[in-house]
Amino acid sequence: MTGAPLPDRLDTARLTLRPFRMEDVERFVPLIGDWEVARWLARVPHPYGPEDGRAWVALAARNRAERVSLDLLAVLIKDDGRPVGGIGVILADGEVGYWLGRPHQGIGYGTEMLRAVVPAAFALGLPRLWARIAPDNHRSRRVLETVGFTPQGAADHYELTAGRWRFLTQETA
Ligand SMILES: CC(C)(COP(=O)(O)OP(=O)(O)OC[C@H]1O[C@@H](n2cnc3c(N)ncnc32)[C@H](O)[C@@H]1OP(=O)(O)O)[C@@H](O)C(=O)NCCC(=O)NCCS
Repeated sequence: MTGAPLPDRLDTARLTLRPFRMEDVERFVPLIGDWEVARWLARVPHPYGPEDGRAWVALAARNRAERVSLDLLAVLIKDDGRPVGGIGVILADGEVGYWLGRPHQGIGYGTEMLRAVVPAAFALGLPRLWARIAPDNHRSRRVLETVGFTPQGAADHYELTAGRWRFLTQETA
């Protein structure tokens, strides 16, 4: 890992990714508190209330300060910065996790936010990124494959190396 500062803002065509703030709690808790979202996420408690949201915002800030993880809230550029989901990378090993609220699924935001975070994580010097998915999480599998991750051994483990990312982005540049 390099000592480069963690990004505090990434922009995509439709989204801004930026750190979670306390004032976001009331708007992101109902999204991640939905069992249809939480059931795919290994580390998210359920039920999930405002207290969990506040604890998460504090933890994410601490993890950023201590370079433990990069956690970003995805908000819509339009619609008054409405939160739609979140994405995070654990910096010790490159594990990536992401989620979108149910009303915001199915329109490509997943691919959009992962495509923004991958180069930011590689810019920090991580050699590889990886994600674990449930066998029947076909959407997440598709998002990972679209961005360039490939299954490793067990099909629930997807990985993308910095070298492959360079290759893919040069190829499509
Ligand atoms: C996983 C998640 C982030 C995907 O993001 P998304 O923006 O909803 O993804 P999309 O709906 O654009 O779908 C991505 C791809 O999967 C395809 N897809 C959608 N539903 C599918 C299904 N039931 N089976 C197979 N493919 C499907 C889409 O066609 C799209 O493929 P394309 O890019 O080739 O058109 C989002 O659905 C989510 O938050 N799910 C709940 C939490 C979660 O699963 N997190 C990941 C844990 S590893």
